[in-house]
Amino acid sequence: MNDIRELARSKMSICKACKECNGIVCAGWTPGCGGKGNGSTFIRNVAKLKEVCVNMNVISSNEKLTCETDFFGSKVSLPVYVAPIGNIFVHYGANMSEYDYTKALVDGVGKDTIVFTGDGQNIDVLMEPLKAVDDGWVVPTIKPWQNDEMKKRIDMIKSSKCSVCCSDIDAAGLTALKTGYPAVEFKDEKALKEIVEKANMPVIFKGIMTKDAAIKCMNAGASGIVISNHGGRVLQDACSTIEVLEEIATAVNGKMKIFIDGGFRSGSDVFKALALGADGVLIGRPFSIAAIGDGANGVRKYLDKIHEELKETMMMCGCRKISDINRDCVRVSWR
Ligand SMILES: Cc1cc2nc3c(=O)[nH]c(=O)nc-3n(C[C@H](O)[C@H](O)[C@H](O)COP(=O)(O)O)c2cc1C
Repeated sequence: MNDIRELARSKMSICKACKECNGIVCAGWTPGCGGKGNGSTFIRNVAKLKEVCVNMNVISSNEKLTCETDFFGSKVSLPVYVAPIGNIFVHYGANMSEYDYTKALVDGVGKDTIVFTGDGQNIDVLMEPLKAVDDGWVVPTIKPWQNDEMKKRIDMIKSSKCSVCCSDIDAAGLTALKTGYPAVEFKDEKALKEIVEKANMPVIFKGIMTKDAAIKCMNAGASGIVISNHGGRVLQDACSTIEVLEEIATAVNGKMKIFIDGGFRSGSDVFKALALGADGVLIGRPFSIAAIGDGANGVRKYLDKIHEELKETMMMCGCRKISDINRDCVRVSWR
């Protein structure tokens, strides 16, 4: 990964591809790759994961280990997905088109997992990545545009090969998208319901940080949520995502899929989220650095690293399949 980071550094004018991607160097770089304001939310996402320990437990069978799981009817090799990141040129200062970026991700992960793609005021940010769709293994993530634009973009997604879509409703807080055309807006429960009905396919709402918001998504008919604070890019001084996971998972009680992102950097971080109630984890910036640095090859190497680390953690904690991972597998030090 050192070589890939080195390559990425030579191809980006903004992101420094730090050894530990933790939000400290890039605090306040939005637009850019960092967290909003003082960068505290991005920094906290990474820091709080370190306060969860995995419980080593070696008395177990020698049954073959698998990380396989289901994503809305598709089998994936591990419950780790690529988070949607749009506008690579603007945020990383990398001379890579949206299509080439997504193609590197899709080719890099192959059939092992799924790539979420981003959106922007320029419709190419949504549509260019969709050209890299291979048998529907891309989940387009639309911004919460005002109604007519939202409907128009949902129709475009429906005419692609995608079978699941997402909306990052927390993007209503992205300063750069509040003005100009199209503009983002906040969505209430009724508006969420309209999105679900219009999409007519499983819809995931991304940017959920409370149990109240999770229940509203559930009432609106969502098939899943991503517990996310947009990688700390929409609000400073917010909770980290790992801190709110268990409370939300308890409220949702298995009635909807729960994904999470923000600061996940290793297979053991993924294991911690699964133990606290997540069905899967999205990883953002490290996949961008891998794709910019060494294209599909970099992405494959990073995914393999996460996969190996997850397998090792499962093996050493007495788990042989994803469903073996439970609350007893971790200890949380903040309460
Ligand atoms: C440069 C950049 C651009 C992003 N663009 C989008 C986007 O278009 N849509 C979206 O839903 N989230 C976007 N995100 C948020 C990510 O999907 C994800 O929530 C976050 O990056 C996860 O944190 P991590 O990067 O620390 O893993 C963006 C994040 C970054 C850093």
